[in-house]
Formats: sequence, structure tokens, C-alpha cells
Amino acid sequence: MTTRLTDNGGTAAVEVRGLVKHYGSTKALDGVDLEVRQGTVLGVLGPNGAGKTTLVRVLSTLIRPDAGTARVAGYDVLQQPRQLRRVIGLTGQYASVDEKLSGRENLYMIGRLLDLPRKDARARADELLERFSLTEAARRPAMQYSGGMRRRLDLAASMIGRPAVLYLDEPTTGLDPRTRNEVWEEVQRMVAEGATVLLTTQYMEEAEQLAHELTVVDRGRVIAEGKVAELKAKVGGRTLRIRPADPGEAAAMAEAIGQAGLDGVAGAHVDSAEGLVSVPILSDEQLTAVVGLLGGRGFGIAHIDTHLPSLDEVFLALTGRQPAPEEPTDEAARPSRGGQPAGPDRAEPNNEKNVEVAV
Ligand SMILES: Nc1ncnc2c1ncn2[C@@H]1O[C@H](COP(=O)(O)OP(=O)(O)OP(=O)(O)O)[C@@H](O)[C@H]1O
Ligand SMILES: [Mg+2]
Repeated sequence: MTTRLTDNGGTAAVEVRGLVKHYGSTKALDGVDLEVRQGTVLGVLGPNGAGKTTLVRVLSTLIRPDAGTARVAGYDVLQQPRQLRRVIGLTGQYASVDEKLSGRENLYMIGRLLDLPRKDARARADELLERFSLTEAARRPAMQYSGGMRRRLDLAASMIGRPAVLYLDEPTTGLDPRTRNEVWEEVQRMVAEGATVLLTTQYMEEAEQLAHELTVVDRGRVIAEGKVAELKAKVGGRTLRIRPADPGEAAAMAEAIGQAGLDGVAGAHVDSAEGLVSVPILSDEQLTAVVGLLGGRGFGIAHIDTHLPSLDEVFLALTGRQPAPEEPTDEAARPSRGGQPAGPDRAEPNNEKNVEVAV
């Protein structure tokens, strides 16, 4: 069920070579190569219109590529679509639950479609409802579910058949932080149980939480790939933001940091509008060193936090430009899940790193 060894020793569960898919003049996929090692999570990070959903659709056998090859768990997407579908699970960007059926009926129906005997389909549905905290709502029609509940039901649905390879297409876009954390925990649990995951996201923090490796796509092309830490280092890691106890001291603080020559700390700048001093840092040691320096010089600090680069900042660092705004298409006009708008949505609700210290 597996394919060749990848360069770093793991076995590739997903192997994509030269994938091309054009829609008229739109190059949704323009020669994509990637691999997901078995038992790991690959994050595919990209802005609206980058080609993420198109990639997931090709890998799910829902659309045919114009060129290139893709193998999943050893099965070729074009030659062995039926076998391939049996080993994958898909949580799409757009909910696939039947609104009129209850949560339990939705899961039971999928189990039956996957040829589970009635008793097993019922047991699996109940097990997953429990896991996703949906037991109480199990008998209510899905149309009465909140956005987060639908997303959890959708995720549960994709897991009915215990897929070896799971595609999660922007699984947390539009979710509140609590529900997002629940989804993350469930994904981590599945990976701990041996699943391989291809996760698309627009959130750097999500990639950092879940992905072992990252592929950054833009306009149908891979523009960067590597371990999350490597990419973060490339784009400058995190930004440490410091609020001086005395707002008048911001400039002096930035100057002190700039002149101190701390290892790997290039300098600081003042955001006058916010009254903050910002320092790009790559490690917790640098954070400690900067705060220690300021304390040692007698500066009072009211608040510090660290902030991950947003997708826009990642793009700026990798390409020297902002992500291209997307042309409106039918796709963008489709209703998205949970009543969230499907259009360009790069607000970064989860861009804050969870290091936040009131001093
Ligand atoms: N069925 C289609 N017909 C025409 N164009 C399409 C179709 N599907 C996708 N596209 C176009 O292909 C490009 C890639 O779209 P895709 O949906 O794969 O992007 P995405 O990375 O998933 O974006 P988002 O983050 O908004 O979901 C876009 O320019 C999109 O408009
Ligand atoms: Mg998409």
C-alpha cells in the first residue's frame, strides 16, 4: 500500500508529480510536485485561489488533471480511482452533510455507503458523535447545527471508514477558537493513530500547530517547502511586541535593542500609532534576551506578546509581494460552510501566538 522511500527516509503516502489543471486561462495547478510522508501532516498553505481545493479534488478523484501524476497509498488517481477512494477521507471546504438528516443519520448513511454492516455503521456513528461532542445533538437535523457543529460532523463523516489518508481542506476557516482547538486535537489524535493528513490552510498558526512539513502554494505553483521551523526562519520567525510602561520611552527602547547587538536580533522598530516596539525574533532565547536587556537598562514594560507572521507577511518575505487578489468566480460565490462568507477572507483571527504575558 505504500510507495517509494522519500529523500528523508519516510514512506510517501501521497506523491504528486507535475500536476497541471487549467480552467480556461486560469492555471489552478501549474506543475505541482509534493509528497506527504506516511503518518505525518503536510500543510499546504496558500491564499485564496492558490489552487488548494483543486489539488484536493484531483487527489480525491473528483476532477481529472490535465497533466501529471498522483499516487495515494500506492494507488494512481487516474488508473485506480475506486481503490483510491476506499482509503481516503475528505473534509471539504464546503460542508457535505445532508441538512435534513440528523447528525447520527448522516454518519450512519455514510457508514452504509462504505459497506459497513448496519450494526457496525450504528456503532461507528455513535463512537464518532461522542468523540466530536455531538452526542446530545445527534438526533437533531443538521440544519439546526451551528457552523462549528457542522464542521465537526463533517470531520466525523470523513473518518467513518478509518481512512489511511485524510484530506482536510481549510478545516477551521471561520471557526471560533474553542472549536478550532477541538478540531486540531482531533486531527492530532488521528495522526497519533497512524493517519496521514494533507491539510490546506490560510493560517500560519494552524500550519505550525499541526503540520510536520509545509508546502506554500501561489497561483498553482509551489513557491516554498520545508519544515515549519525552516520556513519560519526564512520569513523571520515571530515578532515580539513590547508595550513600554511609559509610552514616551518607546524610541529609547528600540534604540537600546538596536545597539545592544544581541545574537541574531537585527533591531527593533517603533509603531508610533500603537505605542509598541516590535522586534523580529527567531527563538525564545532571543525573547528572553531582549526582555532581560530592557529590564537591565531600567525600562518599565507594561505588556509583551509574540505574533506569528501572517500569510501576507509570509508571502511578502518569500516572493517580495502581497498575494494576488483573486478574480471573483463561480467558486468564490458558492456558499461556504456554517454561513461564513466564501469570498476572500484573510482576516487572521488566530494569528496571535499563545505566548502572552502581562508584566
Ligand atoms: N470549476 C472551476 N471553474 C473555473 N475556475 C475554477 C474552478 N475551480 C477553481 N477555479 C479557479 O482556479 C483557481 C484555484 O482555485 P482553488 O479553489 O483551487 O483555490 P483555493 O486555493 O482553494 O482558494 P480558497 O482559499 O479561496 O479556497 C482559482 O483562480 C479559481 O477561481
Ligand atoms: Mg479552497
